[in-house]
Amino acid sequence: MNIAVLNGSPKGPHSVTMQYVYFIQKKFPHHEFKVFNIGAQINQIEKEEKVFREITEEVRASDGVLWAFPLYYLLVPSQYKRFIELIWERNVKDVFKNKYTVVLSTSIHFFDHTAHNYMHAICDDLDMKYLGSFSAEMYDLLSRKGREKWTLFASDFFDGIQQGVPTAKTFPPILHQALDYRPVSSGSKVGNPEKKVLILTDLKESHTNLDRMIERFQESFSDEVKVINLHQVEIKGGCLGCIQCGYHYQCAYGDQDGFVQFYNDHVKTADILMFAGTIQDRYLSSRWKMFFDRSFFNTHTPSLAGKQVGWILSGPLRQIPNLRQILEAYTEWQQANLVDIVTDEVEDSRALDGQLQYLAERAIRFAGMNYVKPKTFLSVAGMKIFRDDIWGRLRFPFQADHQFYKKHRLYDFPHRKYKSRIINSVLILLTKIPSMRKEIYGKRMKEEMIKPLQKILEKHE
Ligand SMILES: Cc1cc2nc3c(=O)[nH]c(=O)nc-3n(C[C@H](O)[C@H](O)[C@H](O)COP(=O)(O)O)c2cc1C
Repeated sequence: MNIAVLNGSPKGPHSVTMQYVYFIQKKFPHHEFKVFNIGAQINQIEKEEKVFREITEEVRASDGVLWAFPLYYLLVPSQYKRFIELIWERNVKDVFKNKYTVVLSTSIHFFDHTAHNYMHAICDDLDMKYLGSFSAEMYDLLSRKGREKWTLFASDFFDGIQQGVPTAKTFPPILHQALDYRPVSSGSKVGNPEKKVLILTDLKESHTNLDRMIERFQESFSDEVKVINLHQVEIKGGCLGCIQCGYHYQCAYGDQDGFVQFYNDHVKTADILMFAGTIQDRYLSSRWKMFFDRSFFNTHTPSLAGKQVGWILSGPLRQIPNLRQILEAYTEWQQANLVDIVTDEVEDSRALDGQLQYLAERAIRFAGMNYVKPKTFLSVAGMKIFRDDIWGRLRFPFQADHQFYKKHRLYDFPHRKYKSRIINSVLILLTKIPSMRKEIYGKRMKEEMIKPLQKILEKHE
């Protein structure tokens, strides 16, 4: 069988992801694998239509497609995202139609599920026959079990193609009728003399909903609100995945472009950050993705802590809960406060005016109070993955993170809480006595659980 492998790693053949592909190649030598280094060659693919066509023609001729990529910022790398956009822009959806397909990613399992949801939905949008996804931890291949699982998954893929098995779609198509937004009310101006407000956008065309939303939001303030268009920031390319930044937050691009300076001078110094964009396929644009990927020079260290963050989006966010989760997780992991996400999915322009006005008022109010809402599973769990990995295998490549995690007491394990350790030991011992166990579990548990909270209530009477 002919399998087209679309490799999303900017590191091309020398990537972790490709080692998984090579392994399968060795295990199934009777199949032919045509590998395309999408991530590494995206500039050429975009510039030279012929190169793009060669890839899509191979996809057309293939029996199955393997989407293989590293996780970058809760999704696929920006280079891969761009390739996906080109499929629609160049109208070649039909070559993917009815092709059997599977997805492989390598990662440290930080929001691998959101990347997989995204790719699965893209495959459904392309009318492909989706046979599943495989989320490998970077070094799963080192264990026998890891190799067995991967081999089994691949053989299931090949068998599926051979037998022409039935598949079902998971994600419904997006049906979106955009409102033609025309601001009607101007509301009272919010003062922001001490707070730096920055709107970042990837706006391409004026006189669009996004353009008007940005303008309306800007007009809610009486003082300066800066708008920076990502298309005007000098960004030479996507993240290369080289992790040179791991030692001391120095990006390999150095001063070859203006990204790091822009991020340090403008993004890091803002008090209120508004990310404004238009939904493109099932995410934002690949330009936005490039922004997030390139901000990886901060590695696993939050760089927006304490800021107020909002999202002003044009497009069908309500139909893409996966994207909402990505936005929430990103903001929360950054230790920033998510003020709100405002979209143009409203009944009329007046309603959107009101939401944008309130977004401005709330951002200023929260900024004045330094409010950051409590964390949820998204960042509590995410941070534990980083903590464990930076403490362990990733400490050497990411030495800057290690210093930061040490300094900010992010290594909150093993628990040294001696008091609770002693109490636990005593209570565990007591529950070995049947009568005590009955007393504790049957009567005292509820009461004892709220005792410390009641003490606080008493203090605040
Ligand atoms: C810019 C960047 C962003 C990353 N983002 C994530 C992420 O969101 N989740 C995750 O689990 N791993 C993330 N990783 C780790 C890579 O997915 C992982 O190292 C992968 O195996 C690299 O594969 P490759 O060598 O094929 O490029 C990121 C790495 C880089 C360089």
